[in-house]
Amino acid sequence: MGHLFDLGSRKLHASRPNAPKVSAALKLHVRAARRQDIEAIVRVSKSSLDPAEEVGFGATGDSPFADVRRLTAAWEEPNRVRGEEVLVAELDGHVVGCVTVEERGRELELININVPMDLQGRGIGTALVRFVEGRARREGKAAVTLGTSRNAAGVAWKSLPWWRHLGYRITHEEENEWTRRIGPGAREIRMRKDLL
Ligand SMILES: CC(C)(COP(=O)(O)OP(=O)(O)OC[C@H]1O[C@@H](n2cnc3c(N)ncnc32)[C@H](O)[C@@H]1OP(=O)(O)O)[C@@H](O)C(=O)NCCC(=O)NCCS
Repeated sequence: MGHLFDLGSRKLHASRPNAPKVSAALKLHVRAARRQDIEAIVRVSKSSLDPAEEVGFGATGDSPFADVRRLTAAWEEPNRVRGEEVLVAELDGHVVGCVTVEERGRELELININVPMDLQGRGIGTALVRFVEGRARREGKAAVTLGTSRNAAGVAWKSLPWWRHLGYRITHEEENEWTRRIGPGAREIRMRKDLL
């Protein structure tokens, strides 16, 4: 048996043993990550997708977010990893999502976003993206940008329609260092949401 809890008007059903418990005033809180969150962040990263479905779409084998020791070693106070700033969504004291961003001049690049599979589709990812957009707006950025991938067979990664739903449009597709690590024929789909 899991626990039922509210996220705005949505009902969540969490089956993980460490999932958030029922609470009277449950609020999703997005905040800067802390070193103490490392284990939870790795758990969130590893439970957000089945590694098999990512084959041909992502080169994440060497990601520090996949391993507690690597993430601990790469962590720079207060919340930086390899130049990316790490933010988490917390619900009733539990980390239920993670997003990383990187300053790119007039733009804020959303590098990665993860919500555990058993908590997806309940608005957590949207809340993280909205938080990133709000922060970019406050900093006077012109846009939030991001990249997703297209595999060698021409199939886009499954989150593409989700990004469109959130108002992101494709600007172009390219091959680059990241796609070369994924494999021949892979491309990065570059997306952008103008804020001004
Ligand atoms: C992508 C991801 C972060 C989304 O997080 P999430 O918490 O599941 O997303 P949400 O619950 O906020 O999404 C719900 C909203 O998206 C819409 N939506 C969901 N799937 C959709 C789809 N395939 N196409 C269009 N809209 C979709 C829902 O209708 C809902 O819209 P509403 O808020 O207007 O009602 C999450 O699925 C994840 O971690 N995936 C694996 C990692 C990944 O792919 N990251 C992105 C790399 S580019």
